Amino acid sequence: MTVTTTATPLHALNTRRSVKFLRGPAPKPDELEQILQAAMSAPDHGALRPWRFVVIQGEAIGKLADVALEAVKRSGDPRMTPEKEKSVREWMAGVPLFIAVAQKIAHDNTKIPEHEQLLATGCSVMNILNAVHMLGYGAFWSTGVGTYVEDVQNALGLDALDYRFLGYLAIGTPACAVPPANRPNFRDFVTEWTGPV
Ligand SMILES: Cc1cc2nc3c(=O)[nH]c(=O)nc-3n(C[C@H](O)[C@H](O)[C@H](O)COP(=O)(O)O)c2cc1C
Repeated sequence: MTVTTTATPLHALNTRRSVKFLRGPAPKPDELEQILQAAMSAPDHGALRPWRFVVIQGEAIGKLADVALEAVKRSGDPRMTPEKEKSVREWMAGVPLFIAVAQKIAHDNTKIPEHEQLLATGCSVMNILNAVHMLGYGAFWSTGVGTYVEDVQNALGLDALDYRFLGYLAIGTPACAVPPANRPNFRDFVTEWTGPV
C-alpha cells in the first residue's frame, strides 16, 4: 500500500507520518540516491556537514539484527526479553532498507556549538523522511535496536570517539493502510513578540 502523497510540496510536508511496519519494495537505487541527496540540503552552520549515513539492506539486515540483539543482551538490558527479541527480529525482517544515522563529532571545531551540529544532522534526517514520503514510501526513525550500546555503534563502523549514533531510519513500502495523522494546531505552539514587556 503506497502512502498518499503530495499534490503540492506543502501538502507533502503536512501528510508525512511515520510508518513503522514496512515491507518491500524499498526505494529503487536512483530513488535512494535522491533521498540521500535531499539530506545534503539541511541547514548547516559552518558547513561542517556533520551528518553520516550507513545504508543497510538485503542480507545485511539479518546480520545487523544478530549483531545488535546479541550486543543488547550482553549489555544486560532487562527489557530484551525473548518475546521482545522475537518481535524486533520480525519487525526488522520485514523492513527492506535501514539507514543508520550518525553525527560526526568535529573535534577540532571551536566555533560551532556541538548542539548546532546535532540540529543540522536532525534537519538532514527530516529531509530524508520528507523525500521518502514524497516518493511514495514510508519511513520510521527508531533509536531501538541497540542505538545506545557501544558495541552496536562500533560494529556499524561508527567509533564512539568520533561519532554520535542517532538511530536507524527504517524505509520501505507501508505494510498496511496509513490513515492521516492527528496533528496539533500550530496556534497552541506559537506566540508573537511585539517588543519588550
Ligand atoms: C530521534 C528519534 C528517535 C525515535 N525513536 C523511536 C523509537 O525507538 N521507538 C518509537 O516507537 N518511536 C521512536 N521515535 C518516534 C517515531 O519515529 C515517530 O516520530 C513517532 O511515532 C511519531 O510519528 P510521526 O513522525 O508521524 O509524528 C523516534 C523519533 C525521533 C525523532
